[in-house]
Amino acid sequence: MTQLTFPQGFLWGTATASYQIEGAATEDGRGQSIWDTFSATPGKTWRGQSGAVACDHYHRVDEDIALMASLGVDTYRFSIAWPRIQPDGTGPANPKGLDFYDRLVDKLVAAGIKPMPTLYHWDLPQGFEDRGGWPERETAERFGDYAAIVGARLSDRVHTWWTLNEPWCSAFLGYGNGHHAPGRTEPAAALAAVHHLNLAHGLAVQSLRAAGAEQVSIVLNPTQCRGEEEAVRVVDGIANRVFFDPILRGQYPADVVERTQRHTDWSFVQDGDLETINQPIDVLGINYYSPTWLRANPDEPESEVGPGTVGIESYTPEGLDFTDMGWAVDATGLTDLLVRIHKDYGVPTMITENGAAYPTGPGADGEVHDDERVAYLRSHIAAVHDAIEAGADVRGYTAWSLMDNFEWAFGYDKRFGIVHVDYATQVRTPKDSAKFYSKVIADHGLTR
Ligand code: NOJ
Repeated sequence: MTQLTFPQGFLWGTATASYQIEGAATEDGRGQSIWDTFSATPGKTWRGQSGAVACDHYHRVDEDIALMASLGVDTYRFSIAWPRIQPDGTGPANPKGLDFYDRLVDKLVAAGIKPMPTLYHWDLPQGFEDRGGWPERETAERFGDYAAIVGARLSDRVHTWWTLNEPWCSAFLGYGNGHHAPGRTEPAAALAAVHHLNLAHGLAVQSLRAAGAEQVSIVLNPTQCRGEEEAVRVVDGIANRVFFDPILRGQYPADVVERTQRHTDWSFVQDGDLETINQPIDVLGINYYSPTWLRANPDEPESEVGPGTVGIESYTPEGLDFTDMGWAVDATGLTDLLVRIHKDYGVPTMITENGAAYPTGPGADGEVHDDERVAYLRSHIAAVHDAIEAGADVRGYTAWSLMDNFEWAFGYDKRFGIVHVDYATQVRTPKDSAKFYSKVIADHGLTR
Protein backbone atom coordinates (compact mmCIF):
# COMPACT_ATOMS: atom_id res chain seq x y z
CA MET A 1 0.00 0.00 0.00
CA THR A 2 1.31 3.43 -0.94
CA GLN A 3 0.15 6.59 0.74
CA LEU A 4 -0.62 9.34 -1.80
CA THR A 5 -0.51 12.79 -0.20
CA PHE A 6 -1.67 15.88 -2.08
CA PRO A 7 0.19 19.19 -2.20
CA GLN A 8 -0.42 21.72 0.52
CA GLY A 9 -3.32 24.03 -0.40
CA PHE A 10 -4.95 21.44 -2.71
CA LEU A 11 -8.71 21.98 -2.31
CA TRP A 12 -11.37 19.31 -1.84
CA GLY A 13 -14.94 20.10 -2.76
CA THR A 14 -18.33 18.96 -3.97
CA ALA A 15 -20.32 20.33 -6.89
CA THR A 16 -23.93 20.89 -7.93
CA ALA A 17 -25.88 23.04 -10.38
CA SER A 18 -28.93 25.26 -9.90
CA TYR A 19 -31.50 23.52 -12.10
CA GLN A 20 -30.40 20.09 -10.91
CA ILE A 21 -30.96 20.73 -7.19
CA GLU A 22 -32.83 23.96 -6.38
CA GLY A 23 -36.47 23.34 -7.30
CA ALA A 24 -38.63 26.39 -6.40
CA ALA A 25 -38.92 26.97 -10.12
CA THR A 26 -41.56 29.67 -9.89
CA GLU A 27 -40.63 31.26 -6.56
CA ASP A 28 -39.35 34.73 -5.73
CA GLY A 29 -39.64 36.00 -9.28
CA ARG A 30 -37.57 33.33 -11.05
CA GLY A 31 -38.19 33.44 -14.80
CA GLN A 32 -38.51 30.46 -17.12
CA SER A 33 -35.39 28.78 -18.48
CA ILE A 34 -34.88 26.65 -21.57
CA TRP A 35 -34.75 23.58 -19.30
CA ASP A 36 -38.26 24.30 -17.96
CA THR A 37 -39.47 24.47 -21.55
CA PHE A 38 -37.54 21.40 -22.71
CA SER A 39 -38.67 19.28 -19.73
CA ALA A 40 -42.27 20.23 -20.42
CA THR A 41 -41.96 19.05 -24.03
CA PRO A 42 -43.16 15.43 -24.38
CA GLY A 43 -40.44 12.87 -25.03
CA LYS A 44 -37.45 15.03 -24.08
CA THR A 45 -36.68 13.86 -20.53
CA TRP A 46 -37.05 10.49 -18.77
CA ARG A 47 -40.73 10.07 -17.83
CA GLY A 48 -41.20 13.78 -18.55
CA GLN A 49 -39.39 14.70 -15.34
CA SER A 50 -38.19 18.23 -14.63
CA GLY A 51 -36.21 20.22 -12.06
CA ALA A 52 -39.35 21.93 -10.74
CA VAL A 53 -38.82 20.42 -7.27
CA ALA A 54 -35.52 18.51 -7.61
CA CYS A 55 -33.75 18.30 -4.21
CA ASP A 56 -35.72 21.31 -2.91
CA HIS A 57 -32.34 22.82 -2.09
CA TYR A 58 -33.82 26.34 -2.35
CA HIS A 59 -35.60 25.65 0.95
CA ARG A 60 -32.93 23.39 2.46
CA VAL A 61 -29.77 25.45 2.15
CA ASP A 62 -28.95 25.24 5.85
CA GLU A 63 -29.26 21.46 5.94
CA ASP A 64 -27.18 21.06 2.80
CA ILE A 65 -24.40 23.33 4.04
CA ALA A 66 -24.35 21.45 7.35
CA LEU A 67 -23.99 18.24 5.35
CA MET A 68 -20.98 19.63 3.46
CA ALA A 69 -19.45 20.90 6.66
CA SER A 70 -19.81 17.43 8.18
CA LEU A 71 -17.89 15.99 5.22
CA GLY A 72 -15.15 18.53 5.83
CA VAL A 73 -15.05 20.03 2.32
CA ASP A 74 -12.89 23.10 1.66
CA THR A 75 -15.00 24.41 -1.19
CA TYR A 76 -18.42 24.16 -2.85
CA ARG A 77 -19.00 24.64 -6.55
CA PHE A 78 -22.64 25.63 -7.21
CA SER A 79 -24.29 27.53 -10.03
CA ILE A 80 -26.33 30.71 -10.16
CA ALA A 81 -29.60 30.53 -12.08
CA TRP A 82 -29.58 33.42 -14.56
CA PRO A 83 -33.44 33.41 -14.63
CA ARG A 84 -33.47 34.13 -10.88
CA ILE A 85 -31.27 37.19 -11.40
CA GLN A 86 -32.76 38.52 -14.65
CA PRO A 87 -36.06 36.68 -15.13
CA ASP A 88 -36.27 37.31 -18.88
CA GLY A 89 -32.53 37.66 -19.36
CA THR A 90 -32.18 41.43 -19.58
CA GLY A 91 -32.94 44.45 -17.46
CA PRO A 92 -32.51 45.21 -13.78
CA ALA A 93 -31.70 42.50 -11.25
CA ASN A 94 -34.44 40.73 -9.32
CA PRO A 95 -33.53 41.54 -5.69
CA LYS A 96 -34.93 38.28 -4.30
CA GLY A 97 -32.83 36.23 -6.71
CA LEU A 98 -29.65 38.04 -5.74
CA ASP A 99 -30.55 37.78 -2.05
CA PHE A 100 -30.78 33.99 -2.28
CA TYR A 101 -27.20 33.63 -3.54
CA ASP A 102 -25.96 36.36 -1.22
CA ARG A 103 -27.28 34.39 1.77
CA LEU A 104 -25.88 31.15 0.38
CA VAL A 105 -22.42 32.69 0.02
CA ASP A 106 -22.58 34.20 3.52
CA LYS A 107 -23.56 30.86 5.03
CA LEU A 108 -20.82 29.00 3.18
CA VAL A 109 -18.22 31.46 4.37
CA ALA A 110 -19.56 31.17 7.92
CA ALA A 111 -19.20 27.37 7.65
CA GLY A 112 -15.59 27.73 6.49
CA ILE A 113 -16.40 26.61 2.91
CA LYS A 114 -14.99 28.61 -0.01
CA PRO A 115 -17.75 29.53 -2.51
CA MET A 116 -17.07 28.79 -6.20
CA PRO A 117 -20.10 29.86 -8.27
CA THR A 118 -20.61 28.97 -11.91
CA LEU A 119 -22.48 31.73 -13.74
CA TYR A 120 -24.03 29.49 -16.36
CA HIS A 121 -24.83 25.82 -15.90
CA TRP A 122 -27.30 25.53 -18.79
CA ASP A 123 -30.44 27.30 -17.51
CA LEU A 124 -30.65 30.04 -20.16
CA PRO A 125 -33.56 32.46 -19.67
CA GLN A 126 -36.19 31.38 -22.20
CA GLY A 127 -36.44 34.97 -23.47
CA PHE A 128 -33.05 34.61 -25.16
CA GLU A 129 -33.99 31.36 -26.86
CA ASP A 130 -37.15 33.06 -28.15
CA ARG A 131 -34.79 35.51 -29.87
CA GLY A 132 -32.47 32.78 -31.19
CA GLY A 133 -30.44 31.64 -28.16
CA TRP A 134 -26.67 31.05 -28.11
CA PRO A 135 -26.34 31.20 -31.92
CA GLU A 136 -27.13 34.92 -31.53
CA ARG A 137 -24.48 37.43 -30.50
CA GLU A 138 -26.91 39.26 -28.22
CA THR A 139 -26.89 36.35 -25.76
CA ALA A 140 -23.12 36.69 -25.27
CA GLU A 141 -23.31 40.44 -24.86
CA ARG A 142 -26.07 40.25 -22.26
CA PHE A 143 -24.12 37.55 -20.40
CA GLY A 144 -21.44 40.16 -19.77
CA ASP A 145 -24.10 42.40 -18.13
CA TYR A 146 -25.35 39.53 -15.98
CA ALA A 147 -21.78 38.77 -14.85
CA ALA A 148 -21.35 42.41 -13.83
CA ILE A 149 -24.54 42.35 -11.72
CA VAL A 150 -23.65 39.16 -9.88
CA GLY A 151 -19.97 40.07 -9.61
CA ALA A 152 -20.78 43.40 -7.94
CA ARG A 153 -22.83 41.64 -5.29
CA LEU A 154 -20.70 38.58 -4.49
CA SER A 155 -17.08 39.11 -5.54
CA ASP A 156 -15.90 40.19 -2.10
CA ARG A 157 -16.56 36.64 -0.80
CA VAL A 158 -16.06 34.36 -3.80
CA HIS A 159 -12.92 32.24 -4.01
CA THR A 160 -13.11 31.31 -7.71
CA TRP A 161 -15.68 32.20 -10.39
CA TRP A 162 -16.49 29.85 -13.25
CA THR A 163 -18.09 31.63 -16.19
CA LEU A 164 -19.58 28.71 -18.15
CA ASN A 165 -20.00 25.03 -17.44
CA GLU A 166 -19.17 22.68 -20.35
CA PRO A 167 -19.91 24.96 -23.32
CA TRP A 168 -19.40 21.88 -25.53
CA CYS A 169 -22.70 20.54 -24.15
CA SER A 170 -24.51 23.87 -24.52
CA ALA A 171 -23.46 24.10 -28.17
CA PHE A 172 -23.46 20.53 -29.46
CA LEU A 173 -26.09 18.82 -27.27
CA GLY A 174 -28.29 21.94 -27.24
CA TYR A 175 -28.07 22.93 -30.92
CA GLY A 176 -26.29 20.00 -32.63
CA ASN A 177 -27.88 16.66 -31.71
CA GLY A 178 -30.72 18.13 -29.65
CA HIS A 179 -30.31 15.86 -26.62
CA HIS A 180 -30.33 18.90 -24.33
CA ALA A 181 -32.37 22.09 -24.20
CA PRO A 182 -33.32 23.81 -26.42
CA GLY A 183 -33.27 20.60 -28.47
CA ARG A 184 -32.32 22.04 -31.86
CA THR A 185 -30.48 20.02 -34.52
CA GLU A 186 -28.74 22.66 -36.63
CA PRO A 187 -24.96 22.21 -37.07
CA ALA A 188 -24.43 25.78 -38.30
CA ALA A 189 -26.25 27.13 -35.25
CA ALA A 190 -24.19 24.85 -32.99
CA LEU A 191 -20.95 26.33 -34.40
CA ALA A 192 -22.24 29.88 -33.99
CA ALA A 193 -23.15 28.91 -30.42
CA VAL A 194 -19.56 27.76 -29.81
CA HIS A 195 -18.27 31.18 -30.76
CA HIS A 196 -20.86 33.10 -28.78
CA LEU A 197 -20.24 30.94 -25.71
CA ASN A 198 -16.51 31.63 -26.01
CA LEU A 199 -17.27 35.33 -26.40
CA ALA A 200 -19.64 35.25 -23.43
CA HIS A 201 -16.83 33.76 -21.35
CA GLY A 202 -14.42 36.55 -22.34
CA LEU A 203 -16.97 39.29 -21.66
CA ALA A 204 -17.84 37.76 -18.29
CA VAL A 205 -14.17 37.56 -17.29
CA GLN A 206 -13.86 41.28 -18.05
CA SER A 207 -16.99 42.09 -16.01
CA LEU A 208 -15.91 39.96 -13.06
CA ARG A 209 -12.39 41.42 -12.98
CA ALA A 210 -13.90 44.92 -13.06
CA ALA A 211 -16.05 43.89 -10.09
CA GLY A 212 -12.92 42.91 -8.14
CA ALA A 213 -13.05 39.13 -8.60
CA GLU A 214 -10.07 37.25 -7.23
CA GLN A 215 -9.88 34.14 -9.45
CA VAL A 216 -11.84 33.71 -12.68
CA SER A 217 -12.02 30.84 -15.13
CA ILE A 218 -14.22 28.48 -17.14
CA VAL A 219 -15.17 24.82 -16.77
CA LEU A 220 -14.57 22.64 -19.85
CA ASN A 221 -15.26 18.94 -20.39
CA PRO A 222 -12.50 17.97 -22.80
CA THR A 223 -12.98 14.64 -24.53
CA GLN A 224 -9.98 12.46 -23.73
CA CYS A 225 -9.71 10.84 -27.16
CA ARG A 226 -8.22 7.39 -27.66
CA GLY A 227 -7.98 5.25 -30.78
CA GLU A 228 -6.94 5.94 -34.37
CA GLU A 229 -4.64 8.92 -34.80
CA GLU A 230 -6.49 10.82 -37.53
CA ALA A 231 -9.91 10.29 -35.92
CA VAL A 232 -8.46 11.50 -32.62
CA ARG A 233 -7.01 14.63 -34.24
CA VAL A 234 -10.33 15.55 -35.84
CA VAL A 235 -12.44 15.02 -32.72
CA ASP A 236 -9.86 16.69 -30.48
CA GLY A 237 -10.33 19.71 -32.75
CA ILE A 238 -14.10 20.05 -32.64
CA ALA A 239 -14.49 18.93 -29.01
CA ASN A 240 -11.43 20.43 -27.31
CA ARG A 241 -9.22 22.79 -29.31
CA VAL A 242 -12.23 24.82 -30.46
CA PHE A 243 -12.44 25.98 -26.81
CA PHE A 244 -8.82 25.68 -25.60
CA ASP A 245 -7.27 27.60 -28.48
CA PRO A 246 -9.39 30.78 -28.50
CA ILE A 247 -9.51 30.94 -24.69
CA LEU A 248 -5.84 30.18 -24.03
CA ARG A 249 -4.16 31.29 -27.30
CA GLY A 250 -6.53 33.76 -28.93
CA GLN A 251 -7.12 31.78 -32.14
CA TYR A 252 -9.47 29.19 -33.63
CA PRO A 253 -7.81 25.97 -34.88
CA ALA A 254 -7.49 26.25 -38.68
CA ASP A 255 -8.29 22.57 -39.24
CA VAL A 256 -11.62 22.90 -37.41
CA VAL A 257 -12.60 26.02 -39.35
CA GLU A 258 -11.72 24.22 -42.60
CA ARG A 259 -13.55 20.98 -41.83
CA THR A 260 -16.77 22.79 -40.91
CA GLN A 261 -16.98 25.01 -44.01
CA ARG A 262 -19.88 22.99 -45.39
CA HIS A 263 -21.95 24.38 -42.50
CA THR A 264 -20.58 27.88 -41.97
CA ASP A 265 -17.91 30.32 -43.11
CA TRP A 266 -17.40 31.46 -39.47
CA SER A 267 -18.35 35.04 -40.37
CA PHE A 268 -19.87 35.33 -36.89
CA VAL A 269 -16.30 35.93 -35.63
CA GLN A 270 -15.92 39.72 -35.62
CA ASP A 271 -12.81 41.89 -35.34
CA GLY A 272 -11.59 42.00 -31.75
CA ASP A 273 -13.58 38.94 -30.59
CA LEU A 274 -10.54 36.73 -30.20
CA GLU A 275 -8.81 39.33 -28.03
CA THR A 276 -11.93 39.48 -25.87
CA ILE A 277 -12.06 35.69 -25.56
CA ASN A 278 -8.34 35.37 -24.78
CA GLN A 279 -8.51 36.87 -21.26
CA PRO A 280 -5.97 35.62 -18.73
CA ILE A 281 -7.58 32.95 -16.55
CA ASP A 282 -6.33 31.68 -13.21
CA VAL A 283 -7.07 27.96 -13.20
CA LEU A 284 -8.84 25.91 -15.86
CA GLY A 285 -11.77 23.84 -14.57
CA ILE A 286 -11.87 20.30 -15.94
CA ASN A 287 -14.82 17.90 -15.80
CA TYR A 288 -13.89 14.30 -16.48
CA TYR A 289 -15.95 11.10 -16.45
CA SER A 290 -14.74 8.72 -19.18
CA PRO A 291 -12.57 8.73 -22.31
CA THR A 292 -13.88 8.32 -25.86
CA TRP A 293 -12.48 5.78 -28.35
CA LEU A 294 -12.57 6.74 -32.02
CA ARG A 295 -12.01 5.07 -35.37
CA ALA A 296 -12.77 5.56 -39.05
CA ASN A 297 -16.04 4.23 -40.43
CA PRO A 298 -16.86 5.42 -43.97
CA ASP A 299 -20.60 4.88 -43.37
CA GLU A 300 -20.74 7.13 -40.33
CA PRO A 301 -22.69 10.39 -40.71
CA GLU A 302 -21.36 13.33 -38.73
CA SER A 303 -24.20 13.75 -36.25
CA GLU A 304 -22.82 11.46 -33.55
CA VAL A 305 -19.53 13.14 -32.60
CA GLY A 306 -20.10 16.68 -33.87
CA PRO A 307 -19.88 18.88 -36.97
CA GLY A 308 -17.01 18.12 -39.36
CA THR A 309 -16.64 14.49 -38.30
CA VAL A 310 -18.11 12.59 -41.25
CA GLY A 311 -16.66 9.07 -41.37
CA ILE A 312 -15.65 8.88 -37.69
CA GLU A 313 -17.39 6.77 -35.09
CA SER A 314 -16.91 6.32 -31.37
CA TYR A 315 -16.81 2.84 -29.89
CA THR A 316 -16.08 1.13 -26.59
CA PRO A 317 -13.41 -1.53 -26.29
CA GLU A 318 -14.05 -4.86 -24.56
CA GLY A 319 -13.07 -5.65 -21.02
CA LEU A 320 -13.95 -2.44 -19.20
CA ASP A 321 -16.46 -1.79 -16.44
CA PHE A 322 -19.33 0.62 -17.03
CA THR A 323 -21.27 3.01 -14.82
CA ASP A 324 -25.05 3.25 -14.86
CA MET A 325 -24.70 5.84 -17.65
CA GLY A 326 -22.99 3.16 -19.77
CA TRP A 327 -19.74 5.16 -19.55
CA ALA A 328 -16.52 3.12 -19.44
CA VAL A 329 -14.46 3.39 -16.25
CA ASP A 330 -10.87 4.35 -17.12
CA ALA A 331 -9.03 6.51 -14.61
CA THR A 332 -5.86 6.64 -16.72
CA GLY A 333 -7.78 8.93 -19.09
CA LEU A 334 -7.89 11.56 -16.36
CA THR A 335 -4.12 11.42 -15.83
CA ASP A 336 -3.50 11.61 -19.58
CA LEU A 337 -5.86 14.55 -19.99
CA LEU A 338 -4.31 16.60 -17.18
CA VAL A 339 -0.78 15.91 -18.40
CA ARG A 340 -1.74 16.81 -21.98
CA ILE A 341 -3.30 20.14 -20.92
CA HIS A 342 -0.22 20.90 -18.84
CA LYS A 343 2.14 20.15 -21.75
CA ASP A 344 0.17 21.85 -24.52
CA TYR A 345 -1.23 24.87 -22.68
CA GLY A 346 0.78 25.20 -19.44
CA VAL A 347 -2.26 26.31 -17.45
CA PRO A 348 -3.03 25.25 -13.85
CA THR A 349 -6.12 23.06 -13.60
CA MET A 350 -8.73 22.04 -11.07
CA ILE A 351 -11.03 19.02 -11.34
CA THR A 352 -14.40 20.74 -11.15
CA GLU A 353 -16.38 17.53 -11.69
CA ASN A 354 -15.64 13.82 -11.47
CA GLY A 355 -17.89 11.02 -10.31
CA ALA A 356 -20.12 8.18 -11.39
CA ALA A 357 -23.77 7.17 -11.60
CA TYR A 358 -24.75 3.95 -9.84
CA PRO A 359 -28.27 3.12 -8.67
CA THR A 360 -27.38 1.81 -5.16
CA GLY A 361 -29.91 2.94 -2.56
CA PRO A 362 -30.33 2.30 1.18
CA GLY A 363 -30.07 -1.36 2.21
CA ALA A 364 -31.80 -3.20 5.04
CA ASP A 365 -29.44 -1.52 7.49
CA GLY A 366 -30.46 1.92 6.20
CA GLU A 367 -26.95 2.54 4.87
CA VAL A 368 -25.96 2.99 1.22
CA HIS A 369 -23.12 0.62 0.36
CA ASP A 370 -22.07 2.07 -2.99
CA ASP A 371 -18.81 0.13 -3.31
CA GLU A 372 -18.55 0.80 -7.06
CA ARG A 373 -18.61 4.57 -6.53
CA VAL A 374 -15.99 4.26 -3.77
CA ALA A 375 -13.77 2.33 -6.21
CA TYR A 376 -14.38 4.90 -8.94
CA LEU A 377 -13.52 7.84 -6.68
CA ARG A 378 -10.47 6.08 -5.28
CA SER A 379 -9.00 5.30 -8.72
CA HIS A 380 -9.74 8.76 -10.12
CA ILE A 381 -8.39 10.69 -7.14
CA ALA A 382 -5.25 8.55 -7.40
CA ALA A 383 -5.15 9.38 -11.13
CA VAL A 384 -5.09 13.08 -10.26
CA HIS A 385 -2.14 12.38 -7.97
CA ASP A 386 -0.39 10.58 -10.84
CA ALA A 387 -0.84 13.69 -13.01
CA ILE A 388 0.65 15.89 -10.29
CA GLU A 389 3.62 13.51 -10.03
CA ALA A 390 4.03 13.81 -13.80
CA GLY A 391 4.30 17.60 -13.46
CA ALA A 392 0.74 18.89 -13.93
CA ASP A 393 -0.23 21.80 -11.66
CA VAL A 394 -3.60 20.58 -10.34
CA ARG A 395 -5.11 22.78 -7.62
CA GLY A 396 -8.14 20.84 -6.41
CA TYR A 397 -10.76 18.13 -6.83
CA THR A 398 -14.50 18.68 -6.72
CA ALA A 399 -16.67 15.56 -6.63
CA TRP A 400 -19.82 15.38 -8.74
CA SER A 401 -22.11 15.42 -7.01
CA LEU A 402 -22.84 16.42 -3.44
CA MET A 403 -26.18 14.63 -3.76
CA ASP A 404 -28.36 12.74 -6.22
CA ASN A 405 -30.15 15.21 -8.45
CA PHE A 406 -31.91 15.91 -11.75
CA GLU A 407 -29.63 14.34 -14.35
CA TRP A 408 -30.92 16.40 -17.31
CA ALA A 409 -32.52 14.25 -20.01
CA PHE A 410 -32.11 11.19 -17.74
CA GLY A 411 -34.23 12.78 -15.00
CA TYR A 412 -33.94 11.27 -11.52
CA ASP A 413 -33.18 7.83 -12.94
CA LYS A 414 -29.40 8.36 -12.75
CA ARG A 415 -27.82 8.99 -9.37
CA PHE A 416 -24.42 10.69 -9.16
CA GLY A 417 -24.57 11.75 -5.51
CA ILE A 418 -22.22 10.80 -2.71
CA VAL A 419 -25.31 11.55 -0.63
CA HIS A 420 -28.53 9.68 -1.43
CA VAL A 421 -31.74 11.67 -1.85
CA ASP A 422 -35.14 10.08 -1.26
CA TYR A 423 -37.21 12.30 -3.54
CA ALA A 424 -40.50 11.42 -1.79
CA THR A 425 -39.29 12.65 1.60
CA GLN A 426 -36.23 14.75 0.66
CA VAL A 427 -34.24 12.78 3.25
CA ARG A 428 -30.49 12.94 2.58
CA THR A 429 -28.40 9.88 3.50
CA PRO A 430 -24.61 10.02 3.11
CA LYS A 431 -23.51 6.98 1.13
CA ASP A 432 -20.36 4.98 1.91
CA SER A 433 -18.69 7.06 -0.82
CA ALA A 434 -19.36 10.22 1.22
CA LYS A 435 -17.67 8.61 4.22
CA PHE A 436 -14.77 7.50 2.03
CA TYR A 437 -14.42 10.99 0.53
CA SER A 438 -14.59 12.60 3.95
CA LYS A 439 -11.64 10.45 5.04
CA VAL A 440 -9.68 11.38 1.91
CA ILE A 441 -10.22 15.03 2.83
CA ALA A 442 -9.21 14.49 6.46
CA ASP A 443 -6.06 12.58 5.40
CA HIS A 444 -5.38 14.97 2.48
CA GLY A 445 -4.84 11.87 0.37
CA LEU A 446 -5.43 8.14 0.17
CA THR A 447 -3.74 4.77 -0.04
CA ARG A 448 -3.36 2.73 -3.19
C1 NOJ B 1 -21.56 17.27 -16.40
C2 NOJ B 1 -22.54 18.33 -16.05
O1 NOJ B 1 -21.89 19.53 -15.79
C3 NOJ B 1 -23.45 17.95 -14.90
O2 NOJ B 1 -24.49 18.87 -14.87
C4 NOJ B 1 -23.92 16.52 -15.06
O3 NOJ B 1 -24.85 16.17 -14.10
C5 NOJ B 1 -22.72 15.62 -15.02
N1 NOJ B 1 -21.85 15.93 -16.11
C6 NOJ B 1 -23.05 14.13 -15.11
O4 NOJ B 1 -23.59 13.84 -16.36
